[in-house]
Amino acid sequence: MAKKRILSGMRPTGKLHLGNYHGALKNWVELQNDGAYECFYFVADWHALTSDYADTSEIGDNITDMVIDWLSAGLDPARSILFVQSRIKEHAELWLLLSMITPLPWLERNPTYKEMKEELSNKDLSTLGFLGYPVLQAADIIMYKAYGVPVGVDQLPHIELTREIARRFNFMYREVFPIPEPLLTQVPKLLGIDGRKMSKSYENSIYMSDTGEELQKKVSSMFTDPQRQRRRDPGRPELCNVFAFHRLYTDWERTREIEVECRQAGIGCTDCKRILGENLGAVMSPLHERQAYYRDHLQEIRDIIAAGCLRARSVAEGTLEEVRAAMKISYGL
Ligand code: TRP
Ligand code: SF4
Repeated sequence: MAKKRILSGMRPTGKLHLGNYHGALKNWVELQNDGAYECFYFVADWHALTSDYADTSEIGDNITDMVIDWLSAGLDPARSILFVQSRIKEHAELWLLLSMITPLPWLERNPTYKEMKEELSNKDLSTLGFLGYPVLQAADIIMYKAYGVPVGVDQLPHIELTREIARRFNFMYREVFPIPEPLLTQVPKLLGIDGRKMSKSYENSIYMSDTGEELQKKVSSMFTDPQRQRRRDPGRPELCNVFAFHRLYTDWERTREIEVECRQAGIGCTDCKRILGENLGAVMSPLHERQAYYRDHLQEIRDIIAAGCLRARSVAEGTLEEVRAAMKISYGL
């Protein structure tokens, strides 16, 4: 039996932080390792242009940095198809064709659209590209006839729209597209070192590539339980971001000890953070080794992407042939 297909994409934001890792990448690797799925993972570089069209200077390096983190985390080109969106021109063709059947109000009522437009008020997002970006995302997904799309909750409106567009196509022309399911992941709540959401733009991120001094410095500046001002004050681990990290990086027994000691002011935050820094560094060290390897072997990354694009393209070409036939626009030419 053919394996069920999984597809997901990430904007090329550059090196990934631990929020990106636990929120998405780790899950991608697990789906790959499960063995029951055929996984397509791609760099959504055209999506980066929908909001960052004015300054494109960093996209190229960002793609490389991000793919290095993908590979270091365990995405394996022998098992997953890794590709770059803009190398598969069919995404543009399918976007165009889907745009013909997508009613404008479906896009205008999209909550993410309204929010982002207000939030990113420093950019002019009154563009066709930005309004139409969920249609591009729909094209990305149904192109590969994906069964499942691992995403965070913020992406749910886009997946819902994808389903509506796919249904509309199937109804208007012919049943070409399976209706994809969103696969929501349980995401641990990790905040940035200043206690806000971890985000590149807040400069509060711990990166997958942070090591040594840099890593220790960040961990030692992390916000803790705000009510624990003095060493003798008891702490509340459940409200402490450092503790949330211990749950992921420190073994179960030690984590339990820290929890008990924190509540009795038996351990101080400085020691608690030092332990976290050490464990985090140790858990990440195999990834750091792979990052160093790929930074010295950039040609290998180019080859991996080229091979992934070849496989993605053959699927995409097949889909577009079906789409043109269903729409009766092949004209026998
Ligand atoms: N819009 C997604 C994001 O901003 C990225 C993305 C583009 C994507 N195309 C996709 C995710 C297709 C899943 C499937 O994170
Ligand atoms: Fe947080 Fe550790 Fe300090 Fe407790 S001891 S408040 S868990 S940093």
